[in-house]
Amino acid sequence: MSALLEVEGLTKRFGGVTAVNTCSFAVPEGSVTALVGPNGSGKTTAFNLITGYARADAGVVRFAGATVSRPDPVRLSRTGLTRTFQQARIFADLTLVENMVAALQQPWRSAFRTAVRGHEKTRALELLDEFGLARLAQERAGNLSYGQKKLLEFAAVLMGEPRLVLLDEPTAGVNPVLVEQIEERIRELNARGLTFLVVEHNMNLVMRLCNPVVVLAQGTKLAEGHPDEVRNDSRVLDAYLGG
Ligand SMILES: Nc1ncnc2c1ncn2[C@@H]1O[C@H](COP(=O)(O)OP(=O)(O)OP(=O)(O)O)[C@@H](O)[C@H]1O
Ligand SMILES: [Mg+2]
Repeated sequence: MSALLEVEGLTKRFGGVTAVNTCSFAVPEGSVTALVGPNGSGKTTAFNLITGYARADAGVVRFAGATVSRPDPVRLSRTGLTRTFQQARIFADLTLVENMVAALQQPWRSAFRTAVRGHEKTRALELLDEFGLARLAQERAGNLSYGQKKLLEFAAVLMGEPRLVLLDEPTAGVNPVLVEQIEERIRELNARGLTFLVVEHNMNLVMRLCNPVVVLAQGTKLAEGHPDEVRNDSRVLDAYLGG
C-alpha cells in the first residue's frame, strides 16, 4: 500500500519539553493506522502539527503525495485531511443538523448563520442516520451525552468527504454501546475506502481494528508495524509498564 500521509522528522518543543521528537511514520492508503503511547507521549501534539493547529519546529508532512508546506486546518480539510479532537469540538447552541453544515467551514457563511441548503441537509441527515443520531437531528447539540457529542463530531467531519480522518481518542469516556457504534462506523467507512489515523488508549480495540500501529513514548517513535509485532516489542512493554 502506498502512503496517504507521511511524516518525516516531525519535531515540536514547548520550552524544555520536546513533545514530538524527530518522528517519522506513514499512514498507508486504505488503512486504519493507530498512534498509541502513554499519556503525554506526544500523540495530540503530532495531530496538531499534521493538521495545522500548531507549527512544527522541524519536519515534513506529505499528504496524497504533496508536501504540506504551511499546514492550515481549513485548507487541509478541503484537500481531504480532517480530524476530531480529544475533547469533542461541537457548537452546543446549534442543532445537530446545523453542526453538520457548520463543519463544512465555508468561508462565506459563519458558523452562526446556518441557513441550511437542501442538498447539505440531505447529506447531514443521511450521516446522522448512519451514526444513529437521526432522531436527534433538531436537538441542541449541547443536550447530547458526552459519547453522542463525540459521535456527532465524527459524523460532522465526514460532511467534507475526506480521504483521511484523524481521530483523537474517539472512544475515551464513551459507554460500551457507543464504543461499538464508533468501531462499526470506522470499519464501514474504511471498507468504503476512507483512511484513518486513530489515537486510542483502548488496546483491545487497537489490536482488532488497526494495522499498522505506531507507538510513541516521550515524543519518540518506539515501534511501527503489525499489532502483533508491536505488542511483543520489549521497548513498547517497558514504556507502558513504567519503564
Ligand atoms: N501547548 C502546550 N504547551 C506546553 N506543553 C505542552 C503543550 N501541549 C502539549 N504539551 C506537552 O507536550 C507533551 C505531549 O503532550 P500531548 O498532549 O501531545 O500528549 P498525548 O500523547 O496526547 O497525551 P494524552 O494521552 O494524555 O492525551 C506533554 O508533556 C505535554 O505536557
Ligand atoms: Mg492527547
